[in-house]
Parts: sequence; C-alpha cells; structure tokens
Amino acid sequence: MNTIIIGSQWGDEGKGKMIDFLTETADVVARGQGGNNAGHTVIANGQKYILHLVPSGILWPGKLCVIGNGVVLDPIGLVDEINQLKAQGVTITSENLLISDRAHVVLPLHKEMDAAQETALGKKAIGTTKRGIGPTYADKARRIGIRMADMRKPEIFEETLRNRIKMANVEFERMGLPTMDEDQMVADVCAAADVLRPHIANTIPVMNKALKEGKSILFEGAQGAYLDVDFGTYPFVTSSNTSSAGACTGTGVPPHKIDRIIGVCKAYTTRVGAGPFVTEDDEISDHLHSMGREFGATTGRARRCGWADGVLLRFSAMFNGFDEMAMTNLDGYDKCAEIKICTAYELDGEMLEYPPATVAEWERCKPVYETMPGWLTDISGCRSWEEIPENAQKFVKRMSELIGCPVSTVGVGPDREQTIAVK
Ligand code: GDP
Ligand code: IMO
Ligand code: MG
Repeated sequence: MNTIIIGSQWGDEGKGKMIDFLTETADVVARGQGGNNAGHTVIANGQKYILHLVPSGILWPGKLCVIGNGVVLDPIGLVDEINQLKAQGVTITSENLLISDRAHVVLPLHKEMDAAQETALGKKAIGTTKRGIGPTYADKARRIGIRMADMRKPEIFEETLRNRIKMANVEFERMGLPTMDEDQMVADVCAAADVLRPHIANTIPVMNKALKEGKSILFEGAQGAYLDVDFGTYPFVTSSNTSSAGACTGTGVPPHKIDRIIGVCKAYTTRVGAGPFVTEDDEISDHLHSMGREFGATTGRARRCGWADGVLLRFSAMFNGFDEMAMTNLDGYDKCAEIKICTAYELDGEMLEYPPATVAEWERCKPVYETMPGWLTDISGCRSWEEIPENAQKFVKRMSELIGCPVSTVGVGPDREQTIAVK
C-alpha cells in the first residue's frame, strides 16, 4: 500500500503525527518537496521530536527514510537536525537515511536573499520562514542550482560554490546590501557536505525497487495545499507543489503506483505568515493560544487561527484527490460551547463553493457559517469512536459531508496513542 499524506490547509495540520502513526506498517518513508521550512512534531515514548528535513519515519527502527529529488536541502541545517535527533537517541546511518543526488542545495546565501526579499516587500511581505526556500527553488528554475550530486567531488564542489557566492555578491552589491564572506560560507557548507556525503544516492531506483518488492511507501508531504505554488493563495505561498502530485515528481515514483491519498486537516484552521484567511477569528485564536497551543514548530510564531472551513477543504479534496481525511486536534474544541463551520464564501453578493483565484477577491470573501453545539467534555482520554461524545461525532460527520470525503481518523491529543479510527 503506497500512501501520500499531505496537509490539506495551510500546513501544521499534524502530518508528523499521522506519518508516525502509519509508519509502523510501512517500509519506506519519503519526503518529496519543501525543505526545513517544515516543522513536523511527533510525540512518542514520552519525548517530543521536531523534524524539519528528516522524514518522520526515522523514529521507527528498521525503516528506510528518503529525502527525494524535489526537496531543497540545507546541508548545515540537516547536520544540526541529525545531531539533535541522535542526541535524543534516534539511530541515523547511511543505511536508514538516503538523500537524492538530484535534490537542490540551500546555501546560506539563499537564506540571506530570502530575508532581503522579505525586507524589500515591506508591508507586502509573505512572512516566509527565512530558510532560503524561495531563492533555492528560483535557482532550480533558473537552471543555476547546485545539487547534492555536486558534493560528490569535493574540489569541483568548492569551485562551484565559490562561483555561486561570487555571483550572489554581485547581486547583493547591486541591491546595496553587504556582501557575504565567501571563505566562511565555503568552509561551513563543505564541512556539512563531508558529513552528508555517505547518505547521497540515486534514490529513484531504490524507491522503484521497493515498489517491485511489494514494500509499502509513505510519502510525507510538507506544508499544506494552500501553500502550493499553483493552487494556493498565490503569492502568499511557498515555492513548491505541496499538493499530492508533488509526491511523484519529488521522488521519481510514477503516479499509477499510488494507492491512497490522505489529507490531514485540523478540526479548525490555522496559518502562519501573511495572506487571506476567510474564517480567521480572534475568539478561537485567543482560546487556543491561552491553552498554550498553536505556536509554530519551526519559527515559534503564534499561528493565526480560525473556524473550520468547508470551502477550503472541499476544493483541497478535489485537486488532491483525497480518499480519506485524517482530522487532528478535535480536542481543541473541548471548551467551546458552540462551533462554527464555514459552508460557503460570499463575494459581492454571490455564493462561492470554491475559493477564488486572486488574493484581492479572496480577501473580500465573507464566511457563511452554520453553528453546531459543542460537547464541553475533555476528550483527550478517549481511545475509541464509541467514547467520543455524540456532538463531536456529529461535527466530524458534518465535515465529511461538506468535504465530500470520509474522515477516517480523529486526533484527540498530540501523542502516538491519541489517534482514533472513525466508525
Ligand atoms: P505538521 O507540520 O503538519 O507535522 O504539524 P506541526 O507539528 O507543525 O503542528 C501540529 C501540532 O499539533 C503539534 O504541536 C502536534 O503535536 C499537535 N497535534 C497533532 N495532532 C493533535 C491532536 O489531535 N490534538 C492535539 N492537542 N495536538 C495535536
Ligand atoms: P509544515 O510542513 C506552515 C509558510 C510560511 C509562509 C509561506 C512561505 O510544518 O506544515 P517559505 O519559507 O516556505 O518560503 O514561506 O509558507 N510555511 C509554512 N506554514 N507550515 C509549514 O510547514 C510551512 N512551511 C512554510 O509561514 O507563509
Ligand atoms: Mg509544522
């Protein structure tokens, strides 16, 4: 069974928890896009792990983890992450973590460019994670990118790096920005390359051999559907295809090998960074933040929060082809007497079933809500569908109807044990 798991909203839906939950029965876990802008939280064995580039399957012994060709990889960031995970007792070797030789390399200069572009945008800034993601994907599209394969020959790699830094420094001078220290950057990147070299492989035959042997692959999406560069709230998006199709182009696994696509959604909605958010609401935001929830795993920023949005999820299910939804954070509503669900958008007197294309229109959309009674019960201790209060069950069923896709599991807490199959 080969399964794509992606975020169906604006990221941080609980993909890490779901990947961890499903890894037990999988053989391979692969990332196909994004970079260390991602922050996937897994709580297991009494410990909290935050994964940025390493697939969340790494926490299970004996599983192969692959960073695919579609990922943009910050070598310095990855070495830090590997060291952090090792310090937490996780085993990482060149046997269980492979990096595609075709993945593009994020350099410190890309992070500098990311920050400079955000500053230049001023009030129109995207609110990026400043991890150099956009500039690295831009280099890839401009056909001037550096790839992991280039690290294989250290002398040639160093020369390639120096040329790229010189080119960036010319751009920086033109923009009136301070230039970067070439020697320092070369030393830092080369030191990380030395650590990562044994992990570099042509991962495409590895993935396809696993398929031939009938092994199960989990494709771990990063970000969420509305951060997709094609389908999202453009330009307030990331620079990769975060939607389901990105899993194939990002790993070299053909589309017809995919058996199942799962969309992870929160029972409410969150977003970090700027851009339209029709159901954003101070009441639910303050409520969740006061519970100590919804602070970003990568940047620590407080996430913007809002009510469940049926319009977003309906469209997301369409362009991603969800077979089922994994709904997390149902327990976020435990103390709400009433819950609002957005069923349509109103734009200039017209009812929309799907979001509009432009940010200008999207920002003018008003949510059309229906209200359901809450359950005012702590559900974090529930371990079966029968234990879930009736009003919570009704909420889940209503969301399934609005999305047009069954909700197969609900989350009642962040721990491995707190995922329940819906009956
Ligand atoms: P990801 O980027 O999609 O992997 O999600 P993040 O890890 O960035 O954010 C999800 C947050 O929700 C993390 O803090 C998780 O530990 C937490 N979480 C996931 N599922 C649940 C759930 O069902 N209930 C609660 N209370 N927390 C959850
Ligand atoms: P996970 O995988 C939530 C957002 C940023 C910003 C926009 C562009 O943990 O769900 P970028 O740095 O990618 O150029 O920023 O995308 N963003 C995320 N938001 N979760 C993520 O990852 C995100 N990765 C990027 O906040 O709005
Ligand atoms: Mg996250």
